[in-house]
Amino acid sequence: MNVSEALKKRGIVVIRSLFDDLQSGKDLDVETSERYIDSLIQEISHQREGMLYLVEPESTKDYLVIHSLNVLLLSLIMGYRIGVEGIELRELGLGAMFHDLGKINTPENLIWKQEGDNEYERTVLSEHPEVITHWLAKKAIIPDEVIHIIKYHHERFDGRGYPEGLTTRDFPRSINIVAICNFYSFQVISIDEKAGEEPRNAFFTISKEGGKRFNPKTVNNFILLMGPMLMDGPIYRRTALVLLDTMEVAAVVKTTGFADTHPEIVVLTNSQGKKLERPVNVDLKKDGSRRIIKLLKA
Ligand SMILES: [Fe+2]
Repeated sequence: MNVSEALKKRGIVVIRSLFDDLQSGKDLDVETSERYIDSLIQEISHQREGMLYLVEPESTKDYLVIHSLNVLLLSLIMGYRIGVEGIELRELGLGAMFHDLGKINTPENLIWKQEGDNEYERTVLSEHPEVITHWLAKKAIIPDEVIHIIKYHHERFDGRGYPEGLTTRDFPRSINIVAICNFYSFQVISIDEKAGEEPRNAFFTISKEGGKRFNPKTVNNFILLMGPMLMDGPIYRRTALVLLDTMEVAAVVKTTGFADTHPEIVVLTNSQGKKLERPVNVDLKKDGSRRIIKLLKA
C-alpha cells in the first residue's frame, strides 16, 4: 500500500504552494489539488498490500505541509477501504488536504499542537478551523462538504471538541475519518518540540478514545483497516505488559488480531504491585470488571 516516493514528493510541492498562495493572498489552486488527489486515488486503487510509511518533516517549519500530506494519505486510503468513492472520495481528499490551512498564521510554537496547554494556547488553536472556513465560504470555490470537514475536524464524539462543541455522532463519515487520521499523524510524527509515538502506542491511545474523542465505529474501522499497514503486528502482542484499571499488572497471552482491543491476559501482580503466587487468567472479552488503561511494555 506504500504510496510511491515520487507521488509523496509531488504532494509536498502541491501542498506547499497552497500555503504559499494563501500567504500571498492568491486564490487556492483547487484544480491542481484535485488532479493530485485523483493520481493518489489511482495509485491506491492499484495497491492492496504492503506498509504505508508516513513522511517525516525535516523541521518544524515543514510540519504543516508534511502533516497535511500525511492526513491526506491516511484519509484517502481509509476512505477507499471503507467504500467511499467518486465525488465523496475526492471531497474527502480535499478536506484532508486543506484541514489545517487555517493554521497559516498560528505561531510556529503552536502549529503542531492539537488542543493547547493553557487558556491562551487553547484560544489561539480553537480559531484555526473557523478562520479558514469563513474565508473559503466567501470565495465559494469549494463544496460545503469540504468546508464541513475543515470546520469540524476537531469536534469530538462526546461533544467536548472545538470550535462549536458539537457531537460528531451523526456527522458524515468523511469528518470522522479526517478527525482520526489527523490525530494519528499528530501522535506519530516527530519534530524538535516533541517525539513521535510508536505506531503501536498511537493505536493503543486511539483504541481507548472510542466513545470519547471518536466515534467507536470509526475507531474499529481505523484499527482494522489501517492497522496492518501501519503496525508490524496487533496492538497487543503476546508478552506485552499492561496496567489495568484495578492497578494490577498483566501480560497479554492471546489476541485475535489487529482489531482485538480485549485480549486474553494473565494477571501477574495485585493492585499494590505484589507478585501473585497464582497468576489469574482473564479473558477481557468475557470479564467486564477489568480494563486496560496503559501499555507498559508494547
Ligand atoms: Fe487542526
